[in-house]
Amino acid sequence: MPNVMTQDAVSLLKADHREAEDLFKKYETAKDAGKTAEKHEIARKVCAALLIHMEIEENIFYPAARGATGDDDKLNEAEVEHSGAKELIMQLGDLKPEDPMFDAKVKVLSEQIEHHVDEEENELFPEVEDSDLDLDDLGEQMADAKAALQEQHGM
Ligand SMILES: [Fe+2]
Ligand SMILES: [Fe+2]
Repeated sequence: MPNVMTQDAVSLLKADHREAEDLFKKYETAKDAGKTAEKHEIARKVCAALLIHMEIEENIFYPAARGATGDDDKLNEAEVEHSGAKELIMQLGDLKPEDPMFDAKVKVLSEQIEHHVDEEENELFPEVEDSDLDLDDLGEQMADAKAALQEQHGM
């Protein structure tokens, strides 16, 4: 019997993107309301979710996409964007939420992610969907890897 929860690879990644966007919006709301503890908790959540998302892309989705599309330029660029995001996430991990740079770093991270997501969804994913990659099978592998990483991160 097919698992009704199974998502194809692209749908899974898009759902992660929407979740990150939603958390960045909630961060702004908490920030505007002066809720520092809540803000910090949201930042912690979005950073953990992004790290897991990038890991399943880098370990599973990107190599498969590279093989299927041969678009090395786009995938190299995506990997460089991931390292930029990881660098900011590392810096945020070292900062106290009351640090004056905390909001600025979250803001820049959200802008970088917005740009990256835009390129993935409008350029990379359509190419992958046009290729002969089995996106259902890939989605299943990614969902398993995501669940294992979430458990590892205590999520
Ligand atoms: Fe990505
Ligand atoms: Fe992504």
